[in-house]
Amino acid sequence: MNNLITKPTELSLNILSEYISKGDIVIDATAGNGHDTLALAKLVGLEGTVYAFDIQEIALQKTKTLLEQEGYISRCILILDSHNHMKEHIPYSQIEKISTVIFNLGYLPNEEKRITTTLETTLPAVKQALELIKVNGVVAITMYDGHPSGKAEKEGLLKFSKELPAKEYHAAYISLINQKNQPPELIFITKKKSIANYDKSR
Ligand SMILES: C[S@@+](CC[C@H](N)C(=O)[O-])C[C@H]1O[C@@H](n2cnc3c(N)ncnc32)[C@H](O)[C@@H]1O
Repeated sequence: MNNLITKPTELSLNILSEYISKGDIVIDATAGNGHDTLALAKLVGLEGTVYAFDIQEIALQKTKTLLEQEGYISRCILILDSHNHMKEHIPYSQIEKISTVIFNLGYLPNEEKRITTTLETTLPAVKQALELIKVNGVVAITMYDGHPSGKAEKEGLLKFSKELPAKEYHAAYISLINQKNQPPELIFITKKKSIANYDKSR
């Protein structure tokens, strides 16, 4: 692939495209304006499904409008809820069948900056995402540390990722070190073997 290393949000999607096949089930944990949801919808094809979460109605409305305009709405399920409840919305039969979960953290561009992702909910959401992905699936996180809560979120996620057991996961951290204006940084976590310690009572 040419231009693999590009701006972080595109770089993340470039890497994810290697993990997603037609018919896959994937999750966008932060729908926002819907750009990532749309990119995932294209990658999963007609038989695939994208679950997209956001806590703001305006974000899901923007995502819905974009998906309708582009003709991809029928393969997407939009959920107005925090991503730390994602397991409650995903059918039990799909646990460890999800190929990708993407988090693009921070706030909705051009909207209320007060409403932003925080470590308090992001960390449990990432833990759930790691339970949901299949072996060789990936969790991708785009982090912005230009604001105080983003800095704490990034530090917490890096600490968590570094401490993941190496027998079960590969965790990678990508930082574009020569760019201006604090570009986002990326974490990718892939699952090496089934953990199967999820709540079997569901
Ligand atoms: C940077 S934007 C996402 C950009 C989006 N992926 C796109 O392609 O346009 C971050 C989004 O996360 C949402 N968000 C904040 N806290 C959340 C939470 N706990 N659960 C789900 N979404 C959340 C915000 O409402 C915002 O829309």
